[in-house]
Amino acid sequence: MSDNINMDQAEELQELDRLEEITADAEPPTPALLSYRYVTMQQKSNARSPSPTMLLDKKLNIQWVNESFKALYGSQAAAVGRQLSNFFTQEIKDSRHGNLIQGITSPKSGFSWLGRVEKKSRDRLSVIANLLILPIFDSPETGTLPVGYMGILDNISAELRQMLRTTYESLLGAARLKDNDTGNHIERVNRYARKMAQSLLGIDEYPEVDREFIETIGFLAAMHDIGKIGTPDDILNKEGPLEAWEWEIMQEHTLNGAFIMSSYPNPMAKEIALRHHERWDGSGYPHDLSENLIPLSARLVAIGDVYDALRMKRSYKQPFNHQEAQKIIIKDSGSHFDPSLVEYFIELENDFYRIYEELKDP
Ligand SMILES: [Fe+2]
Ligand SMILES: [Fe+2]
Repeated sequence: MSDNINMDQAEELQELDRLEEITADAEPPTPALLSYRYVTMQQKSNARSPSPTMLLDKKLNIQWVNESFKALYGSQAAAVGRQLSNFFTQEIKDSRHGNLIQGITSPKSGFSWLGRVEKKSRDRLSVIANLLILPIFDSPETGTLPVGYMGILDNISAELRQMLRTTYESLLGAARLKDNDTGNHIERVNRYARKMAQSLLGIDEYPEVDREFIETIGFLAAMHDIGKIGTPDDILNKEGPLEAWEWEIMQEHTLNGAFIMSSYPNPMAKEIALRHHERWDGSGYPHDLSENLIPLSARLVAIGDVYDALRMKRSYKQPFNHQEAQKIIIKDSGSHFDPSLVEYFIELENDFYRIYEELKDP
């Protein structure tokens, strides 16, 4: 949580105090000198650094941030006065260069550190950045300790997001080669899920819904059947009802999907693949989960997935029109589907209708 200082880090910060007592030969800087140095650094950073930059005191309290920093994290993310690990919402990840506190207190690492930090907020996408921390010294003498630090951030969110998307889209492409009757189904399921998530934003019952959630479900909903990549073709494409043993293998696409998606950094990926066939009353598969034990993302995808499957023409069924499909979803509210979410589905019926029509299969 954002306001919890990681206990280990808190302890390590106390270590910093002790360290200073031991190395008392390094003269502590006077407050005036410190502020003079900070002012100088501020001017330098402002003038020269397009990178988001912050100045930290020796206990890693943020003293100042430049304009690029403010632009990156937004005005709501007031940073000055907060402790570094408190400002970033995810635990600060130590890099291959080692632990943060060790890095910045050790001459061996040049009192510096390079690692990754992440910040989430409700109305913005998560920002993932590489952070380089460099020491600020008060005097050019060797053997002195840093009086503060400069942190320079490199926002890699867009590259990371793009890389992930490209990778998983290729995987989806491979899955589509096998399951060839899906057409635009998966794009439409993305759109329904995104639309429903949007309508839950800011509602107290759904605190997990933020900008990141909406963006992520709008991409990941399409991956719900990715596990079918492991389902034998003759079962996948069989016309007519499946034998009991075939049905068992078919159901395994949820488990296979969970396995495939487990490497995705957001757990929502795995949740959707694993849970999109669970039912509100516990009669679904693979684990008979019920009600709120089924993750919200999967409960949302289930509605979009079934609505769309009903609308589609399949080898074994004629397409239903919007009213018929809607009626079936409403009938199954509380048994198959989360009844509260069905309310939102009803409110959004024009959007469902429009999405299906816009992305209709030729
Ligand atoms: Fe499925
Ligand atoms: Fe589907």
